[in-house]
Amino acid sequence: MSDGTAAARAFYGRWAGLYDLVATYVPGVGELRDRAARALALDRGDTVVEMGCGTGANLPYLREQVGPDGTVVGVDYTRGMLDQARGLVDRRGWGNVHLVHGDATAPPVSGPVDGVLATFVSGMLADPAAAVDGWCDLATDGTVVLVDMALSDEPVAAPVNALFRALTVLSTPPTHKLRYDPPPHDLLRERVESARDALLDRAQASHREERVLGIVRLTGGRM
Ligand SMILES: C[S@@+](CC[C@H](N)C(=O)[O-])C[C@H]1O[C@@H](n2cnc3c(N)ncnc32)[C@H](O)[C@@H]1O
Repeated sequence: MSDGTAAARAFYGRWAGLYDLVATYVPGVGELRDRAARALALDRGDTVVEMGCGTGANLPYLREQVGPDGTVVGVDYTRGMLDQARGLVDRRGWGNVHLVHGDATAPPVSGPVDGVLATFVSGMLADPAAAVDGWCDLATDGTVVLVDMALSDEPVAAPVNALFRALTVLSTPPTHKLRYDPPPHDLLRERVESARDALLDRAQASHREERVLGIVRLTGGRM
């Protein structure tokens, strides 16, 4: 495990409870998660895998799409995050939502599956293009949807970009550093764009949306 991976896992493990509140209740985030789940174009009874499912904020939307006879699998490598997700699944009594502790870049899931979702994960991967390629192989006749945040190119987004830069620096482990080389927002954008390009390369049909002045990007591809 690289130092970066260990630091990320320790960070998310420590802040899982707080992360869950943000991931669930920030205004607009529920609507974005619903949109991402719908963009998978799933049918009732389908199987969908969420890579880096975190505390499970997408699980209600995914389960709604596949219904009680479908299957939802969440994969994450941070136990603290998965514990929160497990609490949600237990509280709701969902027998068809399964949580797996594992690496999303080599997911312990056998396909084919109907959909793969990854929200706010690509920016954490050392080789996002390779990971997305593997996800496309898993959803060989299905759909892959990515949702990520990165600096926007839109001139009107300058104030939001400034806020975003500050937030990425403050949330990058170890959080007490103020200078990073390369800056985390540049690395994040590079990775998010690499993931998106890998998906667009593999997709027979694709769909792109941007929100919050271009900072939030949703990319969907049908294999
Ligand atoms: C920013 S959180 C996003 C969580 C969730 N997808 C959401 O939208 O709220 C990133 C999550 O991805 C997980 N993650 C990052 N890289 C991973 C990998 N290679 N394998 C499994 N989980 C990973 C982290 O543990 C963390 O829970």
